[in-house]
Amino acid sequence: MGILHKWWQVTWLIINVSFLFLSSSFVRGSIITDSLESLDDLLCKQAVNDVKGKFIKTAIVYEISIPSNLTGMKISAVRLRAVSFWNRGLNHSFLSLPPKVVAQPSMKRIAILYENLGKWSNLYFNVSNYTMIAPILGFIAYSSSEKELLDCQKIKIDTQGGNITIRFRNVSSHPKNVTPLCAKIGDNGTVEFSNMTKPYFCEAQSQGHYTLVIPSSSAKESSKLWWVLGFVIGLVVLILLALILVAIKIIKKRKIKEMEKVSEVEEAFDTFWIGDTKLPSASMIRTQPSLENEYHYRGGN
Ligand SMILES: *[C@@H]1O[C@H](CO)[C@@H](O)[C@H](O)[C@H]1NC(C)=O
Ligand SMILES: *[C@@H]1O[C@H](CO)[C@@H](O)[C@H](O)[C@H]1NC(C)=O
Ligand SMILES: *[C@@H]1O[C@H](CO)[C@@H](O)[C@H](O)[C@H]1NC(C)=O
Ligand SMILES: *[C@@H]1O[C@H](CO)[C@@H](O)[C@H](O)[C@H]1NC(C)=O
Repeated sequence: MGILHKWWQVTWLIINVSFLFLSSSFVRGSIITDSLESLDDLLCKQAVNDVKGKFIKTAIVYEISIPSNLTGMKISAVRLRAVSFWNRGLNHSFLSLPPKVVAQPSMKRIAILYENLGKWSNLYFNVSNYTMIAPILGFIAYSSSEKELLDCQKIKIDTQGGNITIRFRNVSSHPKNVTPLCAKIGDNGTVEFSNMTKPYFCEAQSQGHYTLVIPSSSAKESSKLWWVLGFVIGLVVLILLALILVAIKIIKKRKIKEMEKVSEVEEAFDTFWIGDTKLPSASMIRTQPSLENEYHYRGGN
């Protein structure tokens, strides 16, 4: 009884833990926002709030503080005069924009917001068959004004054929014989791949979000599949085991009841008492053995 009860508890625990595990590994959480586009918006507003009240200088990079619920991301912003943008381009942090870049529509000042999603990257990028080996880096152009650093109105920038360079520094270790690919993540989750121009450098023609990936080795993927399959089978076996135990318990209970009934009846005949002790008597032969020929004999009469 006690053991059976414990079995149930253990089974329930395992079932609950497995569902927790399965749901956490298969359902991608939308903890912050469900798209990169809305994340851009969120981060831009954070930047606006963070520099509020400050005197904004041009060509100075502002490190933006991150709210505690987004710890691990890094953002910074810089405002440039369109003229200097055109003349010199921009070379800061992971990003290098070539000269002759123009904003569309044309404007006097342009702001660039740098995003490093850090440990949050996996939340926004999860393409089957690829493993991310660098954080997602993003850069977005916004219109700016004399007073503001940026105003969260996204603008387009045209490199006029020039190449944007993105440099990845925090690359996690990967097999030496596997060359990472650059991946551009579109707002709607689409991914465009390209070769690196040199180790951990990617070339781009437009603003957006970039990362480095390597193909997940098929062995790794299939072992994962087997693991999950084994887990599910194990779970089913456990549930069956629990059901069998319950069934055994029920059957035993019934048998005991039946036996009790029988013994109650038998008690009248088969037991006697000596003091407080109930003793079974030697079993009586209640049905007299009938001789085979007896019937014949009677029948013959
Ligand atoms: C982070 O916390 C702030 C309040 O401190 C809240 O306004 C904001 O919505 C939160 N952001 C996310 C993504 O949960
Ligand atoms: C950008 O700056 C880095 C040093 O901070 C330098 O090594 C690199 O050559 C520069 N790139 C361009 C395109 O100017
Ligand atoms: C991943 O690879 C498998 C075979 O290796 C293929 O069937 C599947 O379509 C691929 N998935 C994607 C999203 O490319
Ligand atoms: C990368 O370069 C190889 C040749 O070196 C080419 O076969 C492959 O298609 C390229 N991949 C992409 C995504 O451009």
